[in-house]
Amino acid sequence: MFRPIAFLVAAAFAAAAVSATEPLATAKTPSVTRTPQALQADVLFWRTLHAGDYEHIDAALQASTAAYLADPGDALTAAHVGWLHIWRLAESGRLEHRLPTITDDAILARRYFEEAVALDPHDARFEGFLAAAQLAEGGIHRDPALMRRGESTMQAAVKAWPEFNLFTAGFVASTARAESAAFREGLEQQWHDMEACLGVPVDRADPDIARYRAAGAAMSADKLRACGDTDAAPHNVEGFYLNFGDMLVKAGDWQTARKVYANATRLPDFAHWPFAAELQQRIDRAPDNVAAFNGPGAGRGKPGPQMLANSNAACMACHQR
Ligand code: HEC
Repeated sequence: MFRPIAFLVAAAFAAAAVSATEPLATAKTPSVTRTPQALQADVLFWRTLHAGDYEHIDAALQASTAAYLADPGDALTAAHVGWLHIWRLAESGRLEHRLPTITDDAILARRYFEEAVALDPHDARFEGFLAAAQLAEGGIHRDPALMRRGESTMQAAVKAWPEFNLFTAGFVASTARAESAAFREGLEQQWHDMEACLGVPVDRADPDIARYRAAGAAMSADKLRACGDTDAAPHNVEGFYLNFGDMLVKAGDWQTARKVYANATRLPDFAHWPFAAELQQRIDRAPDNVAAFNGPGAGRGKPGPQMLANSNAACMACHQR
C-alpha cells in the first residue's frame, strides 16, 4: 500500500538536497486534486479511526505521511497526519508504557495542522485543531508565547464555526483547574454551543434536550455536521454531552451534570454507542467524581476516573462506530 521506508528516507534526503542548493522562491500552492495515494491513505485512516484501532495508528500514519510527502499541497492529508498525532497523544493513557517522547506528538500535530491551515484557511476544523495543538505544545514546553498564539487561534476558530469550535475550545479547557478563568469560560462555551446547535436559549435549571429539540429551527447542512451524529463522527452528540457533564461535575455541580449526561441517553443511537455503559457509570458516580476530577489522581495516564479529555476515549467517544 505504501512504499518501503528505505525509499521514503532516500526521497526525503533527495528533497533536502534540492532545497539546500536551490532557493525556495515561492510558498507552495494548494493542490487542486487529491492523488490516488492520498485517497488510498484516507481509506486506512477512516478504518483505523472508526474502529478505535489505537494500536495501529502507526500504520495509518505511515500511509498518510507518505501521501503528504508525495503531495505536500494536500491540505486534508496534512490534517489527517495532524489528527493521527493528536489522537495518539490524547488517548495515550491506553499505553502500558507511556514514554516521555509521546509529548512529541503535540509538536508534530501542531506542524501538520499549520500546513493544513496555510493550505486551506477556510476549514475551521483545521484551525480549531491547530489551536488545540498549539495549546498542548505550549503547555508541555511552558512556552507562554505559544500559549497566547493558541488562544488567539482558538478565538478565530470559534468565530469561524461556533457550533464546532465552541466544543473544541471547552474540551481543551476542561483539563485546566476548575477555579481558573480558562475552565470557567470553557464551561460557558458548552452552554453556548448547546444553544447555537438547538437554536433557542436553554434554561440551565432544565437542560433536557427533549424540551428544546422541537423548538429549534431545522438545521442547515453545516450546522448538522457540527451538531448531529454524522458519518465522520457517528456519536458526536453523545460525546458532546459526556464532556459537558464532566465539566459540570468538575465545577462541583453534579446535579445539573446528571441532567446534561441524560441528554445522551435520549438519542436514537444511544444503545449502539460503545460508551453507553461508561456514561451510565458517570451518572451514578457523579457526586464522587467531583473529588476525583479535581484531585491528584486526575490526569492523562493516571488510574481512576478521568474527564473525557484526559480519558482513553478522548477521541473515540464521538468517532468510534
Ligand atoms: C464531541 C465529539 C468529538 C470529539 C470528542 C472529537 N471529535 Fe473529531 N469531529 C467531531 C465532529 C462533529 C467533526 C466534524 C465532522 C465533519 O466535518 O463533518 C469532527 C471531525 C474530525 C475529523 C475530520 C475528518 C475529515 O476528514 O472530515 C477528524 C479526523 C477528527 N475529528 C478526529 C478527532 C480526534 C483525533 C479527536 C481527539 C483528539 C477528536 N476528533 C475528538 C466530533 C468530535
